[in-house]
Amino acid sequence: MSESAVTSVLAGTGAPPLRVIAVASGKGGVGKTNVTANLAVALSRLGQRVCVLDADLGLANLDVVLGLTPEWSLLHVLRGERGLAEVMVDGPAGVRVIPAASGFEELTALTPADRMRLLDEVDALDGSLDVLLVDSAAGISTNVLYFSAAATDTLVVITPEPTALTDAYALIKLLASRYGRREFLVMVNMAAGSADAEAAFQRLGRVAERFLRVRLEYLGYVPFDDAVSQCVRQQQPVLLAAPASPASLALARLAERVGARPPSGPTGGMQFFLQRLLNAGGACRA
Ligand SMILES: Nc1ncnc2c1ncn2[C@@H]1O[C@H](COP(=O)(O)OP(=O)(O)O)[C@@H](O)[C@H]1O
Ligand SMILES: [Mg+2]
Repeated sequence: MSESAVTSVLAGTGAPPLRVIAVASGKGGVGKTNVTANLAVALSRLGQRVCVLDADLGLANLDVVLGLTPEWSLLHVLRGERGLAEVMVDGPAGVRVIPAASGFEELTALTPADRMRLLDEVDALDGSLDVLLVDSAAGISTNVLYFSAAATDTLVVITPEPTALTDAYALIKLLASRYGRREFLVMVNMAAGSADAEAAFQRLGRVAERFLRVRLEYLGYVPFDDAVSQCVRQQQPVLLAAPASPASLALARLAERVGARPPSGPTGGMQFFLQRLLNAGGACRA
């Protein structure tokens, strides 16, 4: 982190704290993108100013789920071809979206001058957002780890399947050992019901707490619900297209819990997050 960012955070003179929640899973197809999109909509309806960053560089599909066809992505900002304001698009329910179809490799390869320019760009955003939700890629690649390491919270999405649990365990293990992450939020998606979800959470929680010495907090579950895939086909968040569906009711409850909970890690403005992201990249390459 730059000295000025440290000073503004310590002095409390910087922008209001931005909460950055990285949504990650290890395993693909567990519902990260849908959870991110719908949590964003729900938090926005709770009065928070929300932005989502599509960090699934290989399979960027947040825009598809939100029914958007963005022209530019974070890549154009990194290359200095577009301003961040031009790249951001308005999504449903007042949610803003930063498409990032590709570009993380470029982020870690930025020259010091490019970094300064980018930090200036995001400076304009500071104070205009309460929550940034980051939709991560599947797997445990370095870019997934960077985003979680830089975020104030990591929301781990699991399903009751054993493979989802082992992949989530691998992700948590790396975040704990490499970045000293100790607290994780966990939600269970596609559960048959509350007992099924809680059993899955307990299985993961027991081994993670015992062998990794981390703390997992259970935020709740979203049931398996056909309304979710129907809404994906219509390119609308289920929360808006089928608000009375069991999945929507559960997602709204989840958002209330996320909104009411204090952040697990240090908060700062958008610049603070970006600095942490760049530092995590630097630390990993070293
Ligand atoms: N609660 C749910 N019930 C039924 N299907 C779901 C649920 N959540 C997600 N899905 C389906 O699972 C698929 C994968 O979801 P997605 O959000 O793209 O996962 P990820 O981003 O983790 O790869 C989607 O096609 C979606 O329709
Ligand atoms: Mg996804």
